[in-house]
Amino acid sequence: MKRGPQVILPKDIGLIMAYAGISKESVCVDAGTGSGWLALSLARVAKHVYSYDIREEFIRIAEANRELLDVDNITFKNKDVTKKIDEKEVDLVTLDFQNSDKALPNAKRALKKGGVVLGYLPNTEQVRIFVMKLNKLKFTDVHAVEMILRDLLVREEGVRPSTKGVWHTGYLVFAKRGA
Ligand SMILES: C[S@@+](CC[C@H](N)C(=O)[O-])C[C@H]1O[C@@H](n2cnc3c(N)ncnc32)[C@H](O)[C@@H]1O
Repeated sequence: MKRGPQVILPKDIGLIMAYAGISKESVCVDAGTGSGWLALSLARVAKHVYSYDIREEFIRIAEANRELLDVDNITFKNKDVTKKIDEKEVDLVTLDFQNSDKALPNAKRALKKGGVVLGYLPNTEQVRIFVMKLNKLKFTDVHAVEMILRDLLVREEGVRPSTKGVWHTGYLVFAKRGA
């Protein structure tokens, strides 16, 4: 797939889907779209994905990736999620952009009870801010993790982790909408 801004990689996408329990019944809201890597991966499994981005040029990259994957259960929206999320009773809201904690009140309104919010955050300082805001908004089951994946070097003379590979990508913070 084409890449514009920094994308979420399969190792983290797999964890997001598993933790959020995404199925063919799930309705998801995603922001920002970026290159659409997360949004399109979700759409291949979920019922429908609404993906928001404030920058139209990135939506165009994601649209090209949508055509490449032949996915039609996704709606791109050129809107700011910190201002409004149109959808209600959704199963998952994913937030991957600078200062995404500002979208948490809207995410809470959009989620159904027990629905999951995911913050994808490159730095630990952002994790603290995000978690403090989740607590303030009375989200439950707050859980912060990092997914570490090691490539293995497989050779006749021995098998060991490779000295190369993708190390840090982002921290993942999951929480549920309580009442
Ligand atoms: C790191 S990229 C997202 C990458 C995407 N998750 C992927 O896997 O390809 C961040 C995106 O968030 C968008 N963005 C920033 N602030 C936003 C906001 N308030 N509402 C919606 N999108 C926003 C940016 O324009 C950018 O395209």
